Amino acid sequence: MNIETRSIVKTYTKKNVLNLTGKYRDLLFESGKIHGIIGPNGSGKTTLMKIIAGLTAPTAGDVLYNGQPLCQEILSEMTYSTHTPTLFSRSVYENIAYPLKIRKRDKDEIHQTVSQLLEEFELDDIKNQSARHLSGGESQKTALARALSFSPKVLLLDEPTANIDPKSIQIIEAALKKRNKEQALTIIIITHNLSQAFRICNHLTFLDQGSCLFSDTPEKIMKSDQPTIDEFISFNRF
Ligand SMILES: Nc1ncnc2c1ncn2[C@@H]1O[C@H](COP(=O)(O)OP(=O)(O)O)[C@@H](O)[C@H]1O
Ligand SMILES: [Mg+2]
Repeated sequence: MNIETRSIVKTYTKKNVLNLTGKYRDLLFESGKIHGIIGPNGSGKTTLMKIIAGLTAPTAGDVLYNGQPLCQEILSEMTYSTHTPTLFSRSVYENIAYPLKIRKRDKDEIHQTVSQLLEEFELDDIKNQSARHLSGGESQKTALARALSFSPKVLLLDEPTANIDPKSIQIIEAALKKRNKEQALTIIIITHNLSQAFRICNHLTFLDQGSCLFSDTPEKIMKSDQPTIDEFISFNRF
């Protein structure tokens, strides 16, 4: 699904936390690409993602999904997960199966899909464990497996690999790249890890103080002559 934002403004208590104007007033998140949203803390990344997810309404501007405004059908094809995923206090297996159960999928299909995801995310050994007592990496992998279980068309991730172990990061990145290769999934990921952005994204959007300073390929951002972007890149590259 292609997602387009047009002249988005979001105001909280008289302060514009997002005000997309000028060259990058309209943003396009094309289907089949991994889009990274980067930028300093408080620049409006989460706000933009919540607007795209339909979790908060913009003060002005529009978001179009394949040219259409948000509706129930589009909502049911999108999934949103953050660095503090809300898992149910049931088993890892039940958490991953849940989106399929509410969509009334066939029992065998549910079992097959969940089993494949447990294997892909290396969660098989803990499938019967309560999702309440998981490490950061385990809960993040469970959340992503759950998000992917019903084959969404849009995957929105807000810092999914913040503070988790390197092995889990590797598994998550591989899962995103695999879906990107095999499906026309639109992935938008907020990350403060610039190396990660360069490893997995085909498109980057840079926000700073509610404005968009760049939205194009990773190759082009390296050639940017904007001091704010240069400074951000040199401080965050490792
Ligand atoms: N619900 C809210 N009420 C008031 N201000 C908010 C709210 N959510 C976010 N903000 C403010 O909006 C700005 C952008 O926040 P956010 O989108 O979370 O930035 P980022 O994800 O880039 O760190 C910040 O200054 C933040 O304090
Ligand atoms: Mg944020």
